[in-house]
Amino acid sequence: MAKPRSSFVCQACGSSYPRWAGRCEACGEWNSIVEEALPRDPGGRLSRRGKRIDFSPLEGSDPEPPRRRIGIGELDRVTGGGLVQGSALLIGGDPGIGKSTLLLQAAASLASGKSPATCAYISGEEAIEQVRLRARRLGISGTNVELATETSVTDIIAALDHPDPPAAVVIDSIQTMAVDSLDSAPGTVAQVRASAQELIRVAKRRGFVLMLVGHVTKEGMIAGPRVLEHMVDAVLYFEGDRGHQFRILRAVKNRFGPTDEIGVFEMTDRGLIEVPNPSELFLAERRGNVSGTAVFAGIEGTRPVLVEVQALVSASPLATPRRAVVGWDSSRLAMILAVLEARCGLAFAGNEVYLNVAGGLRISEPAADLAVAAALVSSLSGRPVPEDMVVFGEIGLSGEVRSVSQADLRLKEAAKLGFVRALVPPSRRRRDGSAGTALRTVEIAHLQDIIEIIGPGVRSLSARRERLPG
Ligand code: TYD
Ligand code: MG
Repeated sequence: MAKPRSSFVCQACGSSYPRWAGRCEACGEWNSIVEEALPRDPGGRLSRRGKRIDFSPLEGSDPEPPRRRIGIGELDRVTGGGLVQGSALLIGGDPGIGKSTLLLQAAASLASGKSPATCAYISGEEAIEQVRLRARRLGISGTNVELATETSVTDIIAALDHPDPPAAVVIDSIQTMAVDSLDSAPGTVAQVRASAQELIRVAKRRGFVLMLVGHVTKEGMIAGPRVLEHMVDAVLYFEGDRGHQFRILRAVKNRFGPTDEIGVFEMTDRGLIEVPNPSELFLAERRGNVSGTAVFAGIEGTRPVLVEVQALVSASPLATPRRAVVGWDSSRLAMILAVLEARCGLAFAGNEVYLNVAGGLRISEPAADLAVAAALVSSLSGRPVPEDMVVFGEIGLSGEVRSVSQADLRLKEAAKLGFVRALVPPSRRRRDGSAGTALRTVEIAHLQDIIEIIGPGVRSLSARRERLPG
């Protein structure tokens, strides 16, 4: 019986099926299953008798894997202190966000500096002249980066698979690469996976750092980086709004470092510039004494980051008023609104509610709850949160304010930036004020307390509104 020459692969999650179906059973995606040819040589070596593997003890004397600093502080921070020899990284992000720019700058930085390393930048998307033009614009044309444009993985490997390869290789992007042994088009799951596999194998064998660029589409991650996530050692996502100049590099997986670290960059006309102190930038355009804003003292990875949370509560003619959130979780906002209504007697029912985290940062910490509540109460009451005050704390369903991690670090950062007051959760151990800051902390045990501080009288205001006909 002839073996099947193709299989049907879901382009969203990579599951494969013997026949076509309209919906992928693994991920539930519709119309994502595409026929893909199987490799011509389906290596029938599985039947061979294996040789016994050797086991070794957990404890060993192997030194830490050697790391190479990139020389761009924010990038080194996200990778956990530099690139590990023989490791593979995936840098994902929307098209146009700045991945090529970041990696060209990284390659240039690696190739210059105190201990220059040979670096190859292989583009499958742009012509040599285009990359050169960009390098000129970035002011790095003089650096010793080896440039190539190629999409055949077989040819790329022929150039890299020798005892003296470059120390780091950038592949821009993995969706343009293809291996000859597969008939499917570049960008399909089969090609992306096979190309990455081949390249990673050579990187491990020859000990160079492999950096793969992967495009992520807005709708999801079609044909893409998702199927690569388990194959590489680190996955970094480059995110940000194209309308904003801030770009955030976030580690979502890292076998050699922490995963909650972020790197902050600013996109300028001369490329990406690191932002070593993001709080200053996120607060740069802040206007004091406006109602509806509160400064949240957050933590991203190991670093405290202060951001402004903005809320707008306005009367709505609609039966179901709009709720829109940028930079935060919308179900979390719904929860805070419900708690404010049920436990504090505020009424948001006839109001549209908009929430925005200024500067394009996305926060996921529950510690932002209290700052969001403060911004909402402030907007509803029309009374500004004091300009010199930061807020943090998690809110429970009964309206209680819960403590969060690293309060001292948050307070220190706030003090450094000139804030003098902080609304904080009740501390389990008594803080004696010697946390190294001159900040005045006000402990908030229940959400109601925040209303007393920020918007006294707001309750009668919202009660009056409710009584209005309309
Ligand atoms: P790019 O690195 O090509 O994005 P990606 O590889 O993720 O698709 O970046 C493209 C955008 O960055 C483009 O819209 C122009 C902008 N840009 C600058 O603003 N300044 C610069 O110095 C460079 C090189 C690009
Ligand atoms: Mg690009």
